Amino acid sequence: MAKRIPDTTKRAIIEAARIDEVVGEFVSLKKRGANYLGLCPFHQEKTPSFIVSPAKGIFKCFGCGKGGDSVSFLMEHEHFDYVEALRYLAQKYNIEIEEEELTPEQAKAENERESLYHVTQYAAEHFIKNLWDSEEGRSIGLSYFRERRFTDAIIKQFQLGYCSEGWDTFTQEALKAGYDKKFLVQSGLTIQKEDTGKLYDRFRGRVIFPIHSISGRVLGFGGRILSADKSKAKYVNSPESEIYHKSNVLYAIPFAKREIVAQDMAYMVEGYADVISMHQAGITNVVASSGTSLTEDQIKLISHFTKNLTLLYDGDPAGIKASLRGIDMVLAKDMNVRVVLLPDGQDPDDFARAHSTEEILAYLKANAVDFITFKTRLLLADAGNDPIKRAELIDNILHSISVIPDEIKRAVYVQECGRLLGISEADLYQKLNRIFRNDFQKQLPKGGAAPITEPPAQQKSEEDMRQSEAQVLQETLERELMRLLVNHGRANTRQTYINTEGKEEKQVLPVCAYIVMELQQDELTFSDPLKNRLFSIFADSYDKGDIPTAEDLLLSEEPEVRALVADLSASRFEISKVWESKNIFVHTEQNHGPVLDAAVMQAVQSFRLKQVKDMLEKLSERIKETSDELDLLALMQKKKRLDYMKSVLSGMLRRVVC
Ligand code: CTP
Ligand code: MN
Repeated sequence: MAKRIPDTTKRAIIEAARIDEVVGEFVSLKKRGANYLGLCPFHQEKTPSFIVSPAKGIFKCFGCGKGGDSVSFLMEHEHFDYVEALRYLAQKYNIEIEEEELTPEQAKAENERESLYHVTQYAAEHFIKNLWDSEEGRSIGLSYFRERRFTDAIIKQFQLGYCSEGWDTFTQEALKAGYDKKFLVQSGLTIQKEDTGKLYDRFRGRVIFPIHSISGRVLGFGGRILSADKSKAKYVNSPESEIYHKSNVLYAIPFAKREIVAQDMAYMVEGYADVISMHQAGITNVVASSGTSLTEDQIKLISHFTKNLTLLYDGDPAGIKASLRGIDMVLAKDMNVRVVLLPDGQDPDDFARAHSTEEILAYLKANAVDFITFKTRLLLADAGNDPIKRAELIDNILHSISVIPDEIKRAVYVQECGRLLGISEADLYQKLNRIFRNDFQKQLPKGGAAPITEPPAQQKSEEDMRQSEAQVLQETLERELMRLLVNHGRANTRQTYINTEGKEEKQVLPVCAYIVMELQQDELTFSDPLKNRLFSIFADSYDKGDIPTAEDLLLSEEPEVRALVADLSASRFEISKVWESKNIFVHTEQNHGPVLDAAVMQAVQSFRLKQVKDMLEKLSERIKETSDELDLLALMQKKKRLDYMKSVLSGMLRRVVC
C-alpha cells in the first residue's frame, strides 16, 4: 500500500537535525569560533576548507563549493534519496514517522510516476519469485544463470528473475493483484496488440535483469533470451517511460556507488553479464552503459561519484571505433578517461570468469591507457603512412584535446600526442588554437556578440603617451584577472592570506573566491562598466556557491557579456605572464597547482599594487600642494600606510616572479 511522510513530520525532522551532529558522524570536525572546521569529504584536501555552521544549519566547502543542509549532506555523502535521508534523520532523532496510508482514491490520484514505480516493483518481485519458486523458473531460468556460473548470492543481490513462457502469465497475475492495465502498458511490461487488443508479456520466456535508480528503485528491465534463436533479439529492454530513460541510467549504480566513491574510480562495461561477473569477482566499482554508447546524462550521473572513469572494451575494433565517438563529450566534462582492452576479443564477463581477482586487477592496472593515447595509437595504426589520413587523424585527436577544460591536462596530452605522432608541440598548439577559436566563433549567437577582433591601433600624441601607457598597463592587469576568472574560476588554488590575527595562512579555495575576496576587501573596481558587470556576476555566483564556467557565461542574456567572455576564453591558451617570464613549460599535472596559484596570486597582487601606486601618486601631488598642517599630517599617515602596502605587495610579487 502506498504511503507518504506528512509535511508536518518532514518539518519536525528537519528542525530536529543538528548539522554538526549529522556531519560529525562522517567527518572529524574541530570547533572554530561559532563554526566547525574539517577536511571536506567531497574532494581530496590536506588543509581543511569545509565549514559547518550550527547556527545556520548548513555546511559549506570553500574548496569544492559543495554546500547545503543536513538532508542534502546525507543525499550527497550517503547517496540517499530525499526520503531515505529523512528516514535516517528520523531514526537518529527518535522521531516517529507516522506515514499516511493513502486511500485507493488518493493512491490513484498520486502521480503516474509513483504508479509506474509500484508496477515495476511488483514485477521485479514477481520475476524473482518466479525464478526461485516455480518449476519453469528453476529448470529454465535459474539453471541458465547457474550455467553462466552466477552464484546464488549474486543472483539474489542483483534481483535477477524469470518471466514465464506463457503469453500473458505475468500480466494476468498483475491484473488480478489490482494493478491497472494502463500502467502495465505504460511501463512496457505488457504489450497490447493494436488489432485484437490482446495483452501479452513483453519479457515472456526471458531471464530478467532489473535496472535500478541510484537509490535502488526499479526503473525498468532487460530480458535475455535463452535460446540461440538468431531471429529474435538477444536482449529486450523496457521502453522509455515516465520513470525509465535509457540515456540517464547506469546499470548496477546502487550496487557500485559506494565502492566507486571509496576508490574514486569507476569501471564502465557494456553488458549486464559483464557487470555481474565483475562484481562476483569482488570488483564492485563497475557499472554498465547497457549497450548504448555513453550519453551526457550517464556521464553526469557517474560524475556525482567520481571524475575517474575507466572503460573496459572487448578488443573488437568495430565496437571500439563506434564508442570513440561519444568520448569527446566525456572529456569535455573534465573526466579523466582511461581505456583497457581485453585480450582475444573476450568481454569482461568472459575475462572475469577465466581469471582470479588478483589476475583481473593486475591486468587492469597494467593495461589502462589514457584515452587520448589510446585513440592516437588506434587511429595511427589505421592511417599507416597515408598523409591525408594522418592529417585527418591529427585534427581528430586535437579536437578531442581541445574539449578538455583543464589547461594543464591539455598540455600533457599535447606533449604525449606530439611524441606519438612525431610533430612539434609548437605546431600542435598552433592548430589547437585555431580549432579553439573556430569552436568559440561557432558558439556565438548569430549576429549577436561582436566578433573577436584586434583592438584598433591607437594614435597617440606625445603628451598622452605616459597617460595611455598607464592605461594599457591597467587594462592588461584587468584582462588577466578576467581571463583567470572566466577560464579557471572554479579551479582550486592554494593561496596565502593574512588572517584576522595578522598571521599568514594558507588556504585552498576556488580561484573565483580568492579574486573576489581580495578585490572586495580593498573595494577595488575595474575601469569599465562591462568588466565590473562580469566581476559582479562572479561575486554574486560565488556567494551562492555556484561559480559559472565560460560555457555557462556564453549563455548569458547580455550580449556584451557574451562577447567579452568569448574573447577571454579564446585566450585560454595565452600563456600567462608568469609562465612567460620564467620560461616555464608545464607538462605534468602536479605542476598545475603551483603554476595556476602563481598566476592568480600575481594577477591579484599586481592589480592591487597598481592601485596602491596610483593612490600614492595622487597623494604625493596633494602633499606637495597642501599648506594646512593637520591635513599634511593626515596625508603623511595615509602615505605611510600605502608605502607599507606597496612594499608588502612588491615583496609578495618578487617571491614568485624573481
Ligand atoms: N543489448 C541490448 N539489446 C540487444 C543487445 C545488447 O540492450 N539487442 C545491451 C545489453 O545491455 C547487453 C549489452 O548491450 O548486456 C552488451 O551486448 P552483448 O555484448 O551483445 O551481450 P552480452 O552482454 O555479452 O550478453 P551475454 O553475455 O548475455 O551474451
Ligand atoms: Mn557476454
